[in-house]
Amino acid sequence: MFTIFENRMIVPNVYQMTVHAPDVAQSALPGQFVIFRPEEDGERIPLTLADWDVQAGTVSVVYLNVGRSTAKLASSKAGQTLPTVVGPLGNAMEIDRYGAVLCVGGCYGIGSIYPIARALKAAGNTVVCVLEARSSFLLYWQEKLRAVSDQIVCLTRDGTSGKRGHIGSLAEIIRTLPMRIDRVILNGCNYLMMRGSQETLPLKIKTIVTLNTLMIDGTGMCGVCRVSVNSETKFACVHGPHFDGHQVDWAEVTQRRKAYLQEEVIPLRTTQPL
Ligand code: FES
Repeated sequence: MFTIFENRMIVPNVYQMTVHAPDVAQSALPGQFVIFRPEEDGERIPLTLADWDVQAGTVSVVYLNVGRSTAKLASSKAGQTLPTVVGPLGNAMEIDRYGAVLCVGGCYGIGSIYPIARALKAAGNTVVCVLEARSSFLLYWQEKLRAVSDQIVCLTRDGTSGKRGHIGSLAEIIRTLPMRIDRVILNGCNYLMMRGSQETLPLKIKTIVTLNTLMIDGTGMCGVCRVSVNSETKFACVHGPHFDGHQVDWAEVTQRRKAYLQEEVIPLRTTQPL
């Protein structure tokens, strides 16, 4: 059993949870993920690590409350326990000295991008973080990210914070930056990563995405997380989750992600308490 230290809504519908899992914290690396299960025999939820503290033995994730299992997770209180915390899983993000790296996060991806930006900065890169949201009230962790970046750009659809625009404005943002960008890292929903990759393709900037696929075991056993990258079949959990965004078959990723859409909605229609 894993004790919950903290679980709170940080912006509407987005939660930050910190759990005591010392073994996971001990070996966590930027870009790896964990699987949480909020109840015995419940759904397994893959979540990218947003932070960890080796001394305290804790790991933190940022997640969106979108279905029955995440609603159950969202209703958990500090002091309660989770039956399952598995990890760290997947490969770490490749960290090297690239020059100037643009880290783009949207929604829960703002949290996931944090350890990556921190590691890139520590490796000697110039780090620019772009935080994308519909409106300013959906932005979070600006100060935390500012501490590990050279520049922060907020991008809101309604222009209430930073620049007015969305992920489709990424190429324009890159052109207006005072430095040449050598690498782009995109983290958020699949649409954000697909659209962001389309923006960087004509600019010929290497772009890494962290794929959100359906997962069961997270260890290469079930095949549910199958994706096509550069026309080769890969399992997101063991070959990824980080891939070249210009080589991902996004139509297939989107199609497979929708496979259980109906089943995901049915539990939300029942009157049973979570
Ligand atoms: Fe089962 Fe990747 S989640 S193979």
